[in-house]
Amino acid sequence: MSHIIDAPQNASGRKLGQEEEDRALAGRGRLFGKTVLVTGAGRGIGEAIARKCAFEGAQVALCDLDRHAVQQAAEALREQGKLAAAFTVNVADGESVAALIHSVKSYFGPIDALVNNAGIVQDAQLKNMSDDQWDKVIAVNLTGVYRCTRAVVDTMLEQGSGSIITMSSVVGLYGNFGQTNYAATKAGVIGMTKTWAKELGRKGIRANAVCPGFIATPILNSMPQKVLDAITKEVPMGRLGRPEEIANVVAFLASDEASYVNGAVIEVSGGVTL
Ligand SMILES: NC(=O)c1ccc[n+]([C@@H]2O[C@H](COP(=O)([O-])OP(=O)(O)OC[C@H]3O[C@@H](n4cnc5c(N)ncnc54)[C@H](O)[C@@H]3O)[C@@H](O)[C@H]2O)c1
Repeated sequence: MSHIIDAPQNASGRKLGQEEEDRALAGRGRLFGKTVLVTGAGRGIGEAIARKCAFEGAQVALCDLDRHAVQQAAEALREQGKLAAAFTVNVADGESVAALIHSVKSYFGPIDALVNNAGIVQDAQLKNMSDDQWDKVIAVNLTGVYRCTRAVVDTMLEQGSGSIITMSSVVGLYGNFGQTNYAATKAGVIGMTKTWAKELGRKGIRANAVCPGFIATPILNSMPQKVLDAITKEVPMGRLGRPEEIANVVAFLASDEASYVNGAVIEVSGGVTL
């Protein structure tokens, strides 16, 4: 089951208190008044996306399997005067996702942007990959994206607006050693994104995918250091990316500045694929 775990009374509903409204208007960000739901927001890229969107004036629903992490991330934002609430969810579980969307809508109202960010790796070369490794990665990275988007599409259709942003990867474009399962999911979400761009574009809903290169987050912990060093050497910018560098692009896609960006697959990789 998914449920809200951290919801201060003064942030409920879309209507801001006078003090919060004054503060938001003073530094009115480009996501002012919008509600952004971010999955996998407990750490890494998702946490950076939630922070960036909150600092751009959005009300942010931080959602994660890791209850403690997401609670801390939301609390840190609220301490800085931002509108944020934490929710637990397992994106691979349909009931959990349905309960999440219900909770977020009850708390914040309509959802303006969905950021499908939660993702996992279970690496092995094809000859060693188990069905369990395959199934787990498909369940979170592919089915999870489908479930979350399916669960918000009705509300976005009712609103006649919305932005769906899905975290793919350069691995979804070019493959990667030891990542049959992960590459399949990251290529798969690009196919879904382009389909949604075609199905929903006329209804005012945009769907786009972001393909990060190699970004310094805990997800890379499973990679041997010598592999990471070799990858870093291949990046024309000579370094790994920072989560904030992905968050900046996601915030743009969530905003009205991206009003004609639909079906795009945006690589943010320091040029690693050149
Ligand atoms: N870091 C990179 O180099 C990189 C590169 C390309 C793409 N990506 C993608 O970006 C996204 C974020 O990656 P990251 O590096 O921040 O990863 P991370 O492992 O640091 O964080 C992932 C978050 O997702 C949460 N999560 C995992 N399974 C979940 C589930 N079933 N339901 C809800 N939440 C769940 C985790 O608890 C964690 O907080 C992923 O989709 C990843 O595939 C990352």
